[in-house]
Amino acid sequence: MTQPRRSSHWPRRELFALPKGIYLDGNSLGLMPLSAHQAVVRRLGEWQTQAVSGWDEWFGMAESLSPALARLVGASPREVIATGSITSNLHALLATLYRPQGERKHLLATALDFPTDLYALQSWAELRGAEVRLIPSRDGQTIHEDDLRQALGPDIALVLLPTVLYRSGQLLDVAKLTAIAHRSGALIGWDAAHSIGAMQHAFHDAGADFAVWCSYKYLNAGPGAPGGLFLHQRHHHLAPALRGWWGNEKESQFEMTTKFRPAPGAAAYQQGTPPILALAALEGALEVYEQTDLAALRARSLALTDLLMELADLHLHDMRVLTPRDHARRGGHVSLSHPHARALSVALRQRQIIPDYRSPDVLRLAPIAFYNTEDEIREVVRVLRELLDSGSYKDVTEVGAVT
Ligand SMILES: Cc1ncc(COP(=O)(O)O)c(C=O)c1O
Repeated sequence: MTQPRRSSHWPRRELFALPKGIYLDGNSLGLMPLSAHQAVVRRLGEWQTQAVSGWDEWFGMAESLSPALARLVGASPREVIATGSITSNLHALLATLYRPQGERKHLLATALDFPTDLYALQSWAELRGAEVRLIPSRDGQTIHEDDLRQALGPDIALVLLPTVLYRSGQLLDVAKLTAIAHRSGALIGWDAAHSIGAMQHAFHDAGADFAVWCSYKYLNAGPGAPGGLFLHQRHHHLAPALRGWWGNEKESQFEMTTKFRPAPGAAAYQQGTPPILALAALEGALEVYEQTDLAALRARSLALTDLLMELADLHLHDMRVLTPRDHARRGGHVSLSHPHARALSVALRQRQIIPDYRSPDVLRLAPIAFYNTEDEIREVVRVLRELLDSGSYKDVTEVGAVT
């Protein structure tokens, strides 16, 4: 098979619909790739002209995206599937994999996790009569490996960690922490919301039991795009605990029998009919990655965040950089804290610079390797300095606009 041609020029702004101004919120909602637009229009056309016969095309559509997703997460196509959301996929995987045995019954996460992960874990702890333990943070921003080791007692059945912490941008070492969890006898899953599409993963080789992700951030597949999951092949013999007809093997799905026959691998974790038009946007967004060298993407992302941190050190001494400096310990965004971060983020938006704000005091800036430039970073830092010097951000009243 011939490999797709991978482009070597950066940035690749021509592949995206660029709004006016400077967009630094691609870690919340990635910009629309033109190929995503085209794919949705193409699929709409199929619906328009073929009506129900379109299902001949759409029936295996989620599975057809598995090779591209597998490349991004470092897995075999059978170990991944585009489906659900992080939350619903966590529920589906925990229902199957989380099997308390005697004293080994509790769940472990971190005190800095995105709330939905904790809510999903809490649901399953309640259902199984156990508790969710939280690895504390020493500095309120990052998680220390030794604290994970400390928390991993003989009573922990399963650990869920973020690959990149959503607030500070700390990147965890998937291979190392997976090995530590396994040595203690626990299973481990990863929430890759803030790393998929920003860097290469190697979930299979790391031996992770499972991973979940969304596609609307760095993957650029649009608001509410279908997420995805990875399930290591060592678990493929298990039948999913939460079943639906779309997780049945393709060959017998339309025989409509009373017996569920799981599709091979991760595909068995699909439940209901996939949202074809939303999958189409993911299909188009993945085309951008087919032409992208992932090491080059990560290198450019690191160069942009390096520049942003350097400039913040030089010019924004009244803001605190929360993101670790070490390349091996940070994801794709830089977090800056300031007591008036909320007002600053609104003031930036009023100047057509779109940052991301996280309560109570964090401004997240995500320079995206595909479409942000060094000049944009310089301009953002210049405007922030101007706002801080003038104090004009304090006049901002329209705080409701922050998402
Ligand atoms: C780390 C993390 N996990 C989960 C989610 C959201 O999960 P879902 O896709 O189920 O809405 C987000 C959303 O920003 C996130 O940052």
